[in-house]
Amino acid sequence: MIGRERGELKMLIQSGAVSLAGVRCAESLINDRVIRSAFYVDTTDSTNSLAMAEVSGGRVSDEMLPRLFITDRQTAGRGRLGRTWSSAADSLTFSLAMSVSGATDAAPLSLLAGVMAAEAIDALVAPVTTQLKWPNDIYISGQKVGGILIEASGKYPHIAVVGIGINVLESPAVDAPGFVNPASLATFSSRPVDRFDVLDEILRRLHAERAATSIVERFRHKCYLQGQPVSLDQSGKPLEGVCEGIDSGGRLVINTGDAKHTIHSGEASLIRRH
Ligand code: BTN
Repeated sequence: MIGRERGELKMLIQSGAVSLAGVRCAESLINDRVIRSAFYVDTTDSTNSLAMAEVSGGRVSDEMLPRLFITDRQTAGRGRLGRTWSSAADSLTFSLAMSVSGATDAAPLSLLAGVMAAEAIDALVAPVTTQLKWPNDIYISGQKVGGILIEASGKYPHIAVVGIGINVLESPAVDAPGFVNPASLATFSSRPVDRFDVLDEILRRLHAERAATSIVERFRHKCYLQGQPVSLDQSGKPLEGVCEGIDSGGRLVINTGDAKHTIHSGEASLIRRH
């Protein structure tokens, strides 16, 4: 492992085989104080697992935050609700360890991360407009292009690990249940997309807007499930109804006809009627 410090820069690079463009991107993010440090590995099972191990092991101090964990090849990515996350070549897989204290009063971190990633893609990938499938799956034209997994260590609850995976050039093989209809940004882009441009744009937006008060409203604007018939598993009990979007706290609202249900966590699926 190489520990490298250039001037003010703090970047730990494991193996010299990492992408030079990625190193430059991380350096510029550190220079501009968007992040305070980075840990770059050429291959890892999961950047979330790596970040969680570093945080739980007490190796991430407050002055290192936000700390970027990034890899060129993720071999055993993890998704929400115990699912796997497969990445094709040149996809973007990273995790950001960040302090949650005071940052997310305005909106839940899960919505904030989704809105920032989706708006970054809108800005970079013309002429698409992303949608968000609650809580933070990123969709374009009904196909999933990205997902977010947020974790925290019981020992250091003030640090959240926000893991983001975006299919940039290729979509992965569908080899996991729940990984519905994946696509990549390249499928929809009229020009080439560089994964480090996507990384740069997401992190700069997250940095600039982490205290924004308009996140719930911006999520509503992109809510993929709004007005749609959906089904949801509530601790083994199926719930079916029409999605009325999200409430002011970012919870999903489902109208079953006789009652409105407010959902804190879980996975809602579209009911497709033919
Ligand atoms: C989901 O859609 O269920 C969430 C997928 C999150 C994938 C990212 S890729 C980078 C980070 N490392 C992981 O193991 N998972 C997240």
